[in-house]
Amino acid sequence: MLITILLLLLTTFLAVLRRPLWVYIQRMLERQQGRLPPGPFSWPLIGARGNKLVTPWETMTEWAQHYGPIVSFFQGSVFTVVLSDIEVIKAAFKLPAFEGRPLNHFFKEPLGQGIAFTEGARWRKHRKLVVSALRGLAISGNPQMLFDDHLKQVAWNLVERLKSDGPGTAIDPKSLLNVAAGNVISFVVAKDVLTQTDPRLRKILTSVSDIFSAIPSSDILSILPWLKGVPPFNAQTNSFADAFNRLFGVVGDVVADRRHTLSATTQDAEPVDFADAMFRRQRLSDSDDELKDEEIIGMASEIFFAATEDITLSLRWMVLLLTMHPDVQAKLQNEIDAVIGHLRAPSVSDRASLNYLEAVRLESMRYSCETPFSLPHRVTEDTTFMSYHIPKDTTVVANFYAHNTSEAFWGDPNVFRPERFLDGAGKLNGLSSQLLGFSTGRRSCAGENVAKLTLMVLLATAMQNVAFSFPDGEAGPPLVRTNGTALHPPVHKILVIPRTIPA
Ligand code: HEM
Repeated sequence: MLITILLLLLTTFLAVLRRPLWVYIQRMLERQQGRLPPGPFSWPLIGARGNKLVTPWETMTEWAQHYGPIVSFFQGSVFTVVLSDIEVIKAAFKLPAFEGRPLNHFFKEPLGQGIAFTEGARWRKHRKLVVSALRGLAISGNPQMLFDDHLKQVAWNLVERLKSDGPGTAIDPKSLLNVAAGNVISFVVAKDVLTQTDPRLRKILTSVSDIFSAIPSSDILSILPWLKGVPPFNAQTNSFADAFNRLFGVVGDVVADRRHTLSATTQDAEPVDFADAMFRRQRLSDSDDELKDEEIIGMASEIFFAATEDITLSLRWMVLLLTMHPDVQAKLQNEIDAVIGHLRAPSVSDRASLNYLEAVRLESMRYSCETPFSLPHRVTEDTTFMSYHIPKDTTVVANFYAHNTSEAFWGDPNVFRPERFLDGAGKLNGLSSQLLGFSTGRRSCAGENVAKLTLMVLLATAMQNVAFSFPDGEAGPPLVRTNGTALHPPVHKILVIPRTIPA
């Protein structure tokens, strides 16, 4: 009896593993022949393990130093290629063959209606819709003016909260910055449906944070994805799906409210937010090109998901780095005093004049490496790239950490020095094109302009009105980056000192 059970288990095991084992043997043989990019030894089904399990960005960077800018290996049973050179990344991500997304245990369900986790015709359609709706807000005309007014309001509320919470007691600004990011993105998605105090905003921010916590940088499921349905391994996949379902639920509610408020008011000439743009598109589409409500909710949810966490992270890093570098903070305040003064609020139209502020944002994104990797891409057909064969379904990831910390490229990558992005006259020197925090190519961040304007207005308003410092006698925290999907700054507390207006 025992032997029969064991034989049964063995047969099932081999049946499940036949395909991944066959792919493993094929890829390893091809790699030995030099057709596939080089890389570390990978065990069947387990894959390659670096020395630094909890800091995969460092492992991948060490591999790039050893094997070169295109490295291949197995992550569990998934054949993966990591690109670590900026020119190689730019060349790959502009090719249609690299525009897919791997549908692994995380990204399969309940996603698939939006933009970030779709591919093919649906992704192309959604990408066009999102990019054009966001461009309307960020580029010109009435939508931009409304967005600007909203940014000023959010920035002012943030400063008021910082001033009331921070002068006497040291605070961790994380949740204030997160609420500010949430307020901006609420407007982007559905104008004034979500007020500052609407409990749905808190629910959205909590769901987004839960989604990110459910994607650890390395876990047993990324090694053995076929365990995803088996207890206790399914707990992680379930909590990811649960957080996404919660997000879809609340965002669905917000989108429905926006439809209601729009139908009760006179329409603006141009769409003033994402939902407005999508409802107009729905009215125009014929049955072949229908845009379903679930698709609008899917895209809107992913805008919240993609935007709020990254904007919060950027703000947290900028506040920490400015607190650690009082000289940079003083220079930034001087620029704001000179360009804007204290009689009016910073606005999106100031962006072109605030070169030092832009350099601080760029250097903060470079130095922090807050996005160490792109999202994973999937190669949609057998491809030859830089004379290597990249088989269909290979997962491809760009390693921005390797580039941002490259000594050969930056000279002194471990020094926080915004001046590297400026020329002798204090103008931007063009080096910003060598930074890929928003990725590059066909899948690059769809909200890059919205993000840049948001960071600019929030930071300029903060620096116009307050200064940051560590409590007396305290040094800044040691700079340990944590988490693998997005790198977080170490926990820190700061004092917020209201600025006296210079005479
Ligand atoms: C500092 C803030 C932000 C950073 C650092 C950032 C970074 C990124 C990165 C690295 C990707 C992955 C690109 C790839 O797979 O190659 C991405 C994708 C995306 N981002 Fe952002 N992002 C930010 C803010 C935003 C904002 C404000 C929005 C929307 C308002 C947004 C919307 C998106 C969307 C929709 C995608 C998926 C694009 C696609 O799959 O086609 N992001 N972002």
